[in-house]
Amino acid sequence: MPHMAADELQIGLLGCGTVGSAVVRLLQTNAEEIHRRTGVRLRIASIAAANPSKPRDLRLDPGILTGDARAVVADERIDVVAEVMGGIDPARALLLEAIRRGKSVVTANKQLMAHHGPELFAEAARAGVDLRLEASVGGGVPVIQPLRESLAANRFSEVVGILNGTTNYILTKMAAEGWELGRALEDAQRLGFAEADPAADIEGDDAAAKLAILTTIAFGTEVHLDEVYREGIRRVSAQDIRFAEELGFVIKLLAIAREHGGKIEARVHPALLPRSHPLAAIGNELNAVFVRGDAVGEVMFVGRGAGGGPTASAVVADLIDVARNRRAGTHGRIGMSALRREPLRPMEETASPFYLLMQVADRPGVFARIASIFGEEGVSIGSIVQKSRGQTADIVMVTHTTPESRMRRVLGRIETLDVVRAVRNVIRVIDGE
Ligand SMILES: NC(=O)c1ccc[n+]([C@@H]2O[C@H](COP(=O)([O-])OP(=O)(O)OC[C@H]3O[C@@H](n4cnc5c(N)ncnc54)[C@H](OP(=O)(O)O)[C@@H]3O)[C@@H](O)[C@H]2O)c1
Repeated sequence: MPHMAADELQIGLLGCGTVGSAVVRLLQTNAEEIHRRTGVRLRIASIAAANPSKPRDLRLDPGILTGDARAVVADERIDVVAEVMGGIDPARALLLEAIRRGKSVVTANKQLMAHHGPELFAEAARAGVDLRLEASVGGGVPVIQPLRESLAANRFSEVVGILNGTTNYILTKMAAEGWELGRALEDAQRLGFAEADPAADIEGDDAAAKLAILTTIAFGTEVHLDEVYREGIRRVSAQDIRFAEELGFVIKLLAIAREHGGKIEARVHPALLPRSHPLAAIGNELNAVFVRGDAVGEVMFVGRGAGGGPTASAVVADLIDVARNRRAGTHGRIGMSALRREPLRPMEETASPFYLLMQVADRPGVFARIASIFGEEGVSIGSIVQKSRGQTADIVMVTHTTPESRMRRVLGRIETLDVVRAVRNVIRVIDGE
């Protein structure tokens, strides 16, 4: 049983890398501020690292670092375990063990929460301990807590996020400099905004994991990560961005969760956003989450989605929350114990306007043939731009809202036309409805 002095919170930290080190520094730097605000001293009792003898630029009491994470979890002095080591194994087993021992847990681990969130929530509810995960979505941007507490009175119709700083930086640079994706990615890597292996960011996997968590929190539904539709930004070209701009849009990688007709959809894909949409202004490596609630209307949270300092800000806030709960003699205010289990809406059943860029033969009658396919399939066209390039022409279209399945039929037919050289890209449009 963790010790009961409510004016002290003994923390076991699992991991001491980018985030873990920043948590240690923040707890030291703002120790007095935190004590004044909470009446509780937050103390780090023990820290687990893979290689505890590695030199670290931190002021630590001797003997506080260990290579034995299980011993930290089992330590009777420790009240709360903060997991900032990443990965699913052994993080999952360690957190389950901590919960089973009656310790509250805080995590920054999106992979773990996206794959095993419902299990961990259920175990924490059963044990009556706190499970906090603010840092796992949007880094330093407060998202989980506002959805669960400040906005808890609302029914949400949509939660839309820019949840991956790397791809947001890349798309911002492509728009500002006219670069193609490869060049913007190199620039992001040079500045440390992108990993050496950027696949998880570029393909939308990182944003999908965060969206799975957000959807669970906002709609109280169990989400399986493989049900979250994802499409990355690899096909987005400088030309798409220029055409989108001419039509009054910017291109962003969006993570969208919506409730419509009693069914929930969760999808990550590049999207054209009207320049007037609040998310359109979120540039560079920033993250943002835009929420529509029935009572509050529109709310948006913006800030740094990664980096030691911002992420530690969220982890330490969660620790403070646990400390306050203990002081008040309460815990387990999870609010996630009864998750709905319904499949998400399949992508074929969603609808949106579409942007299409195609290259066609530049001769009379071509456009009429394309337009007739749209007409026959019942897809109406909102705007068209045509640019001649001599032998060929680029045609850009934006349709009105169209069911995904119908759009796929149109594309299948257009691609067989001999006058169509290539369908360069098809991107969904957010109409702001
Ligand atoms: N970095 C960010 O900007 C950011 C933002 C939001 C969320 N997160 C999440 O925060 C978590 C940590 O990220 P990070 O960037 O801080 O990672 P990191 O720099 O790679 O640090 C990982 C830490 O975990 C330790 N570790 C690894 N395996 C361990 C084991 N089996 N037992 C004990 N310790 C172990 C490592 O020890 P050594 O130091 O000895 O190698 C290291 O200290 C991840 O879940 C990540 O997704 C990170």
